[in-house]
Amino acid sequence: METLIGQKVHHFLRRGIFFSHRDLHLILKRYEEKKPFFLYTGRGPSSSALHLGHLIPFFFTRWLQEAFNVPLIIQMTDDEKYLWKDLTIEKTKELTKENIKDIIAMGFDVNKTFIFSDLSFIGKCPEFYENIIRVQRSVTFNQVKGIFGFGDSDCIGKISFPAIQAAPSFSSSFPFIFNGKKDIPALIPCAIDQDPYFRMTRDVAPRLSLPKPALLHSSFLPALTGAQTKMSASDPNNSIFLTDTPNQIKNKINRYAFSGGGATIDEHRANGGNCDIDIAFQYMNFFLEDDNRLEQIRSEYSSGQLLTGDLKKELIGILQTIVAQHQERRKAVTDEVVEQFMSLRKLNL
Ligand code: TYM
Repeated sequence: METLIGQKVHHFLRRGIFFSHRDLHLILKRYEEKKPFFLYTGRGPSSSALHLGHLIPFFFTRWLQEAFNVPLIIQMTDDEKYLWKDLTIEKTKELTKENIKDIIAMGFDVNKTFIFSDLSFIGKCPEFYENIIRVQRSVTFNQVKGIFGFGDSDCIGKISFPAIQAAPSFSSSFPFIFNGKKDIPALIPCAIDQDPYFRMTRDVAPRLSLPKPALLHSSFLPALTGAQTKMSASDPNNSIFLTDTPNQIKNKINRYAFSGGGATIDEHRANGGNCDIDIAFQYMNFFLEDDNRLEQIRSEYSSGQLLTGDLKKELIGILQTIVAQHQERRKAVTDEVVEQFMSLRKLNL
């Protein structure tokens, strides 16, 4: 990738945070041959604020968009959250708008990015709905039961939903962007939890004579209390939100971030800390871009020279800056800007 784009790859790739892929080599080969591809990713608006974990695929997608200069499509699955959560349609629409503002504030280029919500887009674009029912006809109830674990008492909306997440993988779903071309493949950056949707999509694509989407999977930003769980919007004390104040960030890290340090200072100085389980260190691996500083911290913490309190202090500063800068950029995202990103139009590449 570095040879093709003529620059160092993002630290999420260098550090193996994006750790797995499907058919990335085919996308890179196309790029080398100057053939088009596009990026597709998404968000299910289940909470008004995004958490730091959600930044991972979107930060990386933004970097890919800049490095490869390609169109990006972002799906907001408000229908999914209506079907899965205890939310009214009106509430999901509200959350969608708030979430889109957060996504735009991450720095996407309006000339290259189309954002849509399922609830509002399906009625505007027959070609999208046609692809949805093509996928729906190609997958049996038995197959989705196997992939997603649906049971007899799940509502039928859930059972048919995976086709709606599959359809944006196909360029023919967006004729106003791709001029009706069916053969432009998607590259989908997402965390590993979304892979079942796209295993299903890749399975049906050849039967529909459509290209299989390629994928790049990230690992999860862990919850504050431990490396075995993912940060999730449903647990406020276990997550840091993009709406948190500097004090909330400080208190949450100091109070809840699981420490891999020794039980006492003497023990820590003697045996050192364990970076593999230390949440403050894990978060730095995601959010501290400077490779040299990260390695210095790793070595000083492992040897016991650096204490958990020192590590947390540095992390608090890093996260407070990221969140404050985000909040500043978000203030500039007006309803008009949201409308621009969501309008059906040709992208300008
Ligand atoms: P959602 O809203 O649950 O998550 C949005 C994106 O964030 C990723 N993610 C995380 N990444 C790292 N660490 C975490 N702790 C963490 N939590 C969530 C998710 O994998 C996702 O990439 N159904 C989807 C919305 C969707 C979508 C897509 C996602 C529609 N089309 C195409 C990716 C690609 C959802 O509810 O995502």
